[in-house]
This record gives sequence, structure tokens and C-alpha cells, in this order.
Amino acid sequence: MKIAKFLVVVGTLAATGCDSKSGHGRAVEYHSQIEELAVQQEPPDPLVESQACGRVIYMHYCQICHGDEGRGDGFNSGNLAVTPRDFSVPAFWKTATQENLLSAITAGGTAVGKSVLMPAWGKTLSPGQIDNVVAFLRTVPALVEKRALAERELAEQEENEEEEEEKSDQQNEH
Ligand code: HEC
Repeated sequence: MKIAKFLVVVGTLAATGCDSKSGHGRAVEYHSQIEELAVQQEPPDPLVESQACGRVIYMHYCQICHGDEGRGDGFNSGNLAVTPRDFSVPAFWKTATQENLLSAITAGGTAVGKSVLMPAWGKTLSPGQIDNVVAFLRTVPALVEKRALAERELAEQEENEEEEEEKSDQQNEH
């Protein structure tokens, strides 16, 4: 079952611009390893092909600065004088244009008047891969919201359970 899932994902990636035909040769060698990783930690939501492919690229190249959930809080973010963009903020997406996103990723922060601390990826990722990573970034606010909701529900459930336990303890005392 796991293997079948793995093959589906690899097949999907091959069809969406994550493969050697559209990508940079060296980057692709890495991909087979992280594709496996991506299968282990399945996306929190069924993402469409381009988004799922973009997520693999994101987790490999961007997560170190922009964070697991795209909140700009990756492991390396503390070393940077400028905080990496938090993609979970809906207000950002109201002003972000596709053109700007593509330029920032392809040519780096300076191409759009932002910090040089945002590297250029145009020599590492193909245009198709950059399209996919943007498709994934667009899903970040919904994914973060969904996770927060699930966490709140879990906390409420636990609280209720504790209350019930207290009640039954009190009843037992009488
Ligand atoms: C070395 C750390 C680092 C890595 C790795 C990194 N970024 Fe960034 N990124 C930044 C920083 C810092 C900024 C904020 C620049 C600013 O606000 O001046 C930024 C900004 C951006 C922006 C611009 C958002 C805006 O404000 O318009 C986009 C888009 C972006 N990153 C996407 C990516 C993607 C996609 C990847 C992976 C392919 C990636 N970044 C990898 C550090 C990084």
C-alpha cells in the first residue's frame, strides 16, 4: 500500500514539471530522496498535482527559511536580518501578484525591491517547478487555518473529557 502510494506520487511529480526533463539535472537527483520523505509526511489536505509537486520543492528548498507551515519561521530564519515572508497571512495574498512572486523566486528578493537574503532560484528550479511552488504557496493560508481549527477542536474535546471526568469523580465521592 505504501509502495503504491509512493509510485503514485512519483508518477504525479514526473507529470508536473518536477522531473528531469523540465528541471535542472542536479536538483532532480535530490528529488528522489525527498519524494520519499514527502510521501511519509503526507500533505494535510489533498492537494492538486501542481500544488503537491510544489510542496515537495518547497520542503526541500524553502522550508529552511520560510518554515514548515510557511509562516516565515524556519530553522534559518533566526540568522537573517530580514524575516522571511510569512505566507499564511491572508492580507499578503490580497496584494501579491503572480508576476511579483515569480520574479522574486526566479531572480531573488532584489528583483522586486526586497532583501538580498531571499535567494534567486532561476538556476536551480525550472519555470515549471517555480509555477508549482507558487501554486503550493497559495494554499498556505487555508492549510494553516485548517490545522489551527483542528487543534482548537482537539483542545476543546480534551477539555470536555476532563470536565466529564471531574463530574464522574464528584459523583463517585457522594
Ligand atoms: C536563505 C533563506 C531563504 C530561502 C532558502 C528562501 N527564502 Fe524566500 N525570502 C527570504 C527572505 C528573508 C524574504 C523576505 C525579503 C524581504 O521582505 O525583503 C523572502 C521573501 C520571499 C518572497 C517575496 C514575498 C514578498 O514579500 O513579495 C517569496 C515569493 C519567496 N521568498 C519565496 C521563496 C521560495 C519559493 C523559496 C524556495 C524556492 C524561498 N523563498 C527560499 C528568505 C529565504
